[in-house]
Amino acid sequence: MSKLKVGFLQFQPKLFHEKHNLEKISSMLKGCKADLVVLPELATSGYLFANQNEMEPLAVPGKSGRIADFFRDISTKENCGIIVGFLEKENKNFYNSQMLVYPEGKIEIYRKTHLFYEEKGLYKPGNLGFNVFEFRGAKVGLMICFDWIFPEAARTLALKGADIICHSSNLVLPFCQKAMITRSIENQVFTITANRTGTESNADEELTFSGMSQIISPKGEILAQANANEEILKIVEINPENARDKFVTEKNNVLTDRKTEFYEL
Ligand code: ACM
Repeated sequence: MSKLKVGFLQFQPKLFHEKHNLEKISSMLKGCKADLVVLPELATSGYLFANQNEMEPLAVPGKSGRIADFFRDISTKENCGIIVGFLEKENKNFYNSQMLVYPEGKIEIYRKTHLFYEEKGLYKPGNLGFNVFEFRGAKVGLMICFDWIFPEAARTLALKGADIICHSSNLVLPFCQKAMITRSIENQVFTITANRTGTESNADEELTFSGMSQIISPKGEILAQANANEEILKIVEINPENARDKFVTEKNNVLTDRKTEFYEL
């Protein structure tokens, strides 16, 4: 399998300002020379909605419409796959979604399964399950932000063959970056957490997002990391093949040694 240049784009989306967010993304990705870049959760719209009326003008269909067209265009121009969180609407339902956009124009969708806090009153939980997609010889698994706290999410992706888990995030609790090192080790996969920075205020609520986006190897090494506040694109070269060896010692395999008969509750 050939090596891939993979990265994250960490930035501060502005709530309600789609045009600003798309321009920022476009300028930060210009000339990126990567194979695959992961962007934060809800990167096109911002996060802290107070109600669905506010969400309506920013919500789009997954595989068609202005957001899909915009990312298809950049993906083709830069010859780079893009994974980005966006606000999806289908049949009157809002989903906190992620699209994987191929330079050839194909799009795959994931819908956030485990909704965080007030998201439960705004979105439907994802109904597509955890899926893995082929990208330039590697297997790419998708998950969004709070999915991290359920190890079953990353495990399911690993069991489906993911080499790289692409994790678009808007993190507010202080635990995830460390936990994702564990997710990488326990599944022997690469993980890319693309988080956002900055603070959002709306309707008497305020949230500060923790940045510190990171790329972790199957051995738990931090291959790249942003700081808490910077807007930055970071790219590293990885060999996805390194995620295919599931042995942590000669005698211990993180997938085939599982004792599933004792796990079900
Ligand atoms: C989160 O799931 N955005 C914390």
